[in-house]
Amino acid sequence: MSGDRSSTAARSTATPKAASSGAIILDGKAFAAQVRQAVALHAGEFASRFGRPPGLAVIKVGEDPASCVYVKSKRKACSEGGIASFEHDLPAATTEAQLITLVYALNHDDRVDGILVQLPLPNGTDANRVMDAIDPAKDVDGFHPVNTGLLAQKRPKLRPCTPYGVIRLAEGYGIALRGLRATVVGASNIVGRPMALELLLAGATVTVCHTGTRDLRAEVERAEVLVAAVGKAGFIPGEWIRPGAAVFDVGINRIAPGKLVGDVEYEPAARRAGWITPVPGGVGPMTIAMLLSNAVAAAFMRAGGKN
Ligand code: GUN
Repeated sequence: MSGDRSSTAARSTATPKAASSGAIILDGKAFAAQVRQAVALHAGEFASRFGRPPGLAVIKVGEDPASCVYVKSKRKACSEGGIASFEHDLPAATTEAQLITLVYALNHDDRVDGILVQLPLPNGTDANRVMDAIDPAKDVDGFHPVNTGLLAQKRPKLRPCTPYGVIRLAEGYGIALRGLRATVVGASNIVGRPMALELLLAGATVTVCHTGTRDLRAEVERAEVLVAAVGKAGFIPGEWIRPGAAVFDVGINRIAPGKLVGDVEYEPAARRAGWITPVPGGVGPMTIAMLLSNAVAAAFMRAGGKN
């Protein structure tokens, strides 16, 4: 093995899959399946106590190809997890006012515990205004300023799915984040910023890199935990990875039909890292698992029962 894992991130206590290249592959697909099993049991418990399943409304506007794929898999995951899926597929010409009217109706629909508006929205629609219209108690994406604020104040409620999924995956593999130097590359509202808040909550020392970062390579090279959320194939060269680091690749970039890659140059990174998420099969499945988990948590919280 080329990297000295014990000198950087804490050693895994889970029973990980060893990679021939050196890094332990963080099997998000398998771990997400375990989470989803637990969530389905929890959903069943909700249904027996309250006489209806937890409900999740997923709104798609237009026909963005990636959104169509993501929304389809979210809805399928709902039905497999004992969550009622309310489908709203709207034409690209839907106005912001029409969309907000639908959100308000869903806010007042008692069968609906969670509302997700798939992003991006067509040009001309202000995503912030739409997201702000969602009842924070139904904000299963965790994007509402109330939920972001609660996370920032160390009292998380509904947590953004991808960052929460990264944290759960790290926990599942026994990667102790407290005290580690963590670098997030990308500062989006969906991933980078809430990821930084999650890492901070977990006790890491956090740096966020963005387009204004002067020396990205130096920042990546000292990261004991690296989260890449840029959306550009192979944006981070493998040779930048600190030996033994835990690497979480949030990027899902299609470089050819049927060929997805992450933001990190995988093979050389896997030779240096202590742990690494593959693409596909790493962070992506965790995002969906945490969405289902949030939907069931929202249902229990709204019902005033235990979470
Ligand atoms: N578009 C890409 N990722 C996401 C996500 O996690 N939630 C929503 N609503 N839209 C997205």
